[in-house]
Order: sequence, then C-alpha cells, then structure tokens
Amino acid sequence: MDWLKGKISINQPVVFPDKKYQDKYFIGLNLYLGYKEILLLRKDNNYSVFLAIYEKIEHATKLDFDRAYIVFQAAQATSTLPGSSAECGVYRGGGSALIASVNQDRKHFALDTFEGFPDVTSDIDIHRKGGFADTLIMDVKNIFQSYPNIIMLKDTFSQSFPGLQQESFSFVHIDADLYASTLECCEFFYKKMNQGGIMLFDDYLVRDTPGVKKAVDEFFSLKKEFPIVLPTMQAMVFKL
Ligand SMILES: C[S@@+](CC[C@H](N)C(=O)[O-])C[C@H]1O[C@@H](n2cnc3c(N)ncnc32)[C@H](O)[C@@H]1O
Repeated sequence: MDWLKGKISINQPVVFPDKKYQDKYFIGLNLYLGYKEILLLRKDNNYSVFLAIYEKIEHATKLDFDRAYIVFQAAQATSTLPGSSAECGVYRGGGSALIASVNQDRKHFALDTFEGFPDVTSDIDIHRKGGFADTLIMDVKNIFQSYPNIIMLKDTFSQSFPGLQQESFSFVHIDADLYASTLECCEFFYKKMNQGGIMLFDDYLVRDTPGVKKAVDEFFSLKKEFPIVLPTMQAMVFKL
C-alpha cells in the first residue's frame, strides 16, 4: 500500500477488496482516523466529557479509545429511554464505569464471573477457560465506588439472568468474546430491550473471537433487526 505510506499510521495491514475503490476507502479511513482532531479543534463539549471519563477508567478496560467512545455515545443515545443498562463481560470494570457515568439515575448491571472465562463449549472459540482471570474483585469494587448505580452480578451469565427477570433494558454492551456466552446474551436480552434500545457487541470482527460474529449472525438472521458493523469492529443493533 505505497500510496498510504506516511499518510496515516496503523498497526495492521490494510487489505482493500477492490482496488478501483481505493480512493473512496482512503477518504473513509482518513475521516475515521481524523475525527478526534476535528472534535478537538471544534472544542466539542461532549467529547471533552468523554475524554475526562476515559482518562479515569482507561487503566481498567480493554476497550481502546475509539471503541470506548462508541460505547459512551451509545450509552448517551439511550439514556432517556426507559430501562436499565448492562454490561456482559466486565473484567476490570472500566467499561461499566464508563456506561454508568452517563446517567447515574439509570441502574447499570455488571455481569461477569470476575474469575475469567467459564467452560468454553464451542470449537469455534480460540479463547480458553480462565482467560481474563487477572482481575481482582476488590479493585473492580473500588472503581465502582464512584457509581452507586452499578449493581455487580458475580457469576456466569446464565446463573445471573434469573435475577434480572423483572428488568427491562435500554442499553446492553456485550463483550464476552465466546460463542455460547454471546448467544445466551442475545437470547436473554433481546426480549428485554425496550424499543429504540441498543445492543452493542464488542469484537464482532476480531480475528481471535470468531464466535461473536457467528452468534450474532445466527441470532439476528431470525429477527427483523440488522446488526450494523462499525469501523471499530463492533456491531450495533437497534431494537425495533
Ligand atoms: C473481553 S473481557 C471484557 C472486557 C471489558 N468489557 C472491558 O471493558 O475491559 C471478557 C469477559 O467476559 C467474561 N465472560 C465471558 N463469558 C462469560 C460467562 N458466560 N459468564 C460470565 N462471564 C463471562 C470473562 O470473565 C471476561 O472477564
């Protein structure tokens, strides 16, 4: 990709499926990577709020800057809808703190074993049991101290779901990496989402989490909603 050299810095090779569109890809990529500068130059207030929160939580999340900003905006976009928010796959807690900060009157449920992945049941998954076990519940609780609207549910998702039967949801961030975990989140939360609510899937197109795309595609192939793929590799579904 000689024409890209010196124009942008990226840490992955870029493969363009069709050369005849390369100028269009370039414009899209450039705009995407450049949006932060534009927001800063225009002194966007909302972006400043995000930056301040991200600075506080970035040590406790795997979400990179761009994906975190999408999570933040999706939490904002749904914050006036009825219903709670949730995150499935919390790890060290930064993502849940980010979501909970947006609307502190909205209950936020944080679901994880906080001991890493449970049994991995599908052959498609690359991750194995115990991955992401390097988190400490006390550290997560410390981060959550500033957000009294967070309710921690420490168990496998399937064990936690019965406790949420009375809830409805406006925003759910699903960051579970595994096929079975993602599918069970789809099955449980889809029917609990209020109209206009967002289900946001992390790692939808990431190479080491093929089970996420498989679960999302299988589930929504039978539904009227359509997962929108974002340049950040996330997929977003609006409940109709
Ligand atoms: C990629 S990490 C989550 C990252 C987090 N959202 C962040 O902001 O850094 C995936 C998490 O999903 C959890 N997980 C996956 N499947 C699960 C299940 N069935 N029940 C409970 N936790 C699960 C793992 O324990 C792990 O902490």
